[in-house]
Amino acid sequence: MEARCLLLLAVLLLAGAHGGEAQPLVPGVFTFGDSSVDIGNNDYLHTLIKADFPPYGRDFPNRVATGRFCNGKLATDITADTLGFTSYPPAYLSPQASGKNLLIGANFASAGSGYYDHTALMYHAIPFSQQLEYFREYQSKLTAFAGSSQAKSIISGSLYIVSFGASDFVQNYYINPLLFKTQTVDQFSDRLVSIFVNSATQLYGMGARRIAVTTLPPLGCLPAAITLFGHGSTGCVSRLNSDSQRFNGKMSAAVSSLAKRYHDLKIAVFDIYTPLYSLVTSPGDQGFTEAKRGCCGTGKVEFTVFLCNPKSVGTCPNATTYVFWDAVHPSEAANQVIADALLVTGIDLVT
Ligand SMILES: *[C@@H]1O[C@H](CO)[C@@H](O)[C@H](O)[C@H]1NC(C)=O
Repeated sequence: MEARCLLLLAVLLLAGAHGGEAQPLVPGVFTFGDSSVDIGNNDYLHTLIKADFPPYGRDFPNRVATGRFCNGKLATDITADTLGFTSYPPAYLSPQASGKNLLIGANFASAGSGYYDHTALMYHAIPFSQQLEYFREYQSKLTAFAGSSQAKSIISGSLYIVSFGASDFVQNYYINPLLFKTQTVDQFSDRLVSIFVNSATQLYGMGARRIAVTTLPPLGCLPAAITLFGHGSTGCVSRLNSDSQRFNGKMSAAVSSLAKRYHDLKIAVFDIYTPLYSLVTSPGDQGFTEAKRGCCGTGKVEFTVFLCNPKSVGTCPNATTYVFWDAVHPSEAANQVIADALLVTGIDLVT
């Protein structure tokens, strides 16, 4: 807790040191990923994986459902706040993602997407490879808008957050016999990690120099995973949690070798497993009262348009003490805890 306060202070001081008016610590934030970071690209797609209707967003300023799979802010929104931004990088597909907004980055994420392009194609989401293409397109827009030297410094100074993998497992591998009958979890994980390495190398080639990649959450503790794979038990599914940990170990090793290969690249793993696991297993320690079900509806199966929607019965009146907002996604309160935990790793990347 004390360390967290000191870090926050450091962030504030550094932000102050940039000159009279507080400037964000980095010129922009770029996000690639799935529903854990999508801030609304899916609003513009023909997909069922959407969150642009209530009760999503009900605790967001103005109570607007933006397409975030949360009652309020995502962990990346909170990270952007901490970095000193007063408005968030726009969803890339949104009409506002032009002009002045280009200068604070962009969000290329698409709910239902994965490292593995097939995951996104199943859900009519934007595959990672396409997200990278959009980033290439973004760069030429930025260059036209800001000029080549400013565009270059924005691209190299910005923070890149990559967050995939949960959909690859929960919405694809575990339910898709074409995958789980032909590949072990280890083989599938190796494949996903190699896609990350290849994509991070492409980002580096396009000028990115500060990259964070999130770990998998404890997949076995997601309420939907407990419902689907828990065989009636209400505890976390340990098989899925150990799959997450093995995957995370492989990701860490891959990130270390990328750091060795490119000396001018700052790259780190954002560990969301540990803070989310401790929230789920000892919620009371941090003032939470419910960690087994999401706030929306019954909290055991609900997410997306069919399930968590304005007619869902049983939605909790106040999600502040719930770890999960729907059956898959953390609440804003949990995102705050997760974002705080990332600060220690994050500070190294942005200074
Ligand atoms: C939810 O509960 C928290 C803590 O008790 C309180 O601060 C907040 O105002 C409540 N939110 C709503 C929308 O009632």
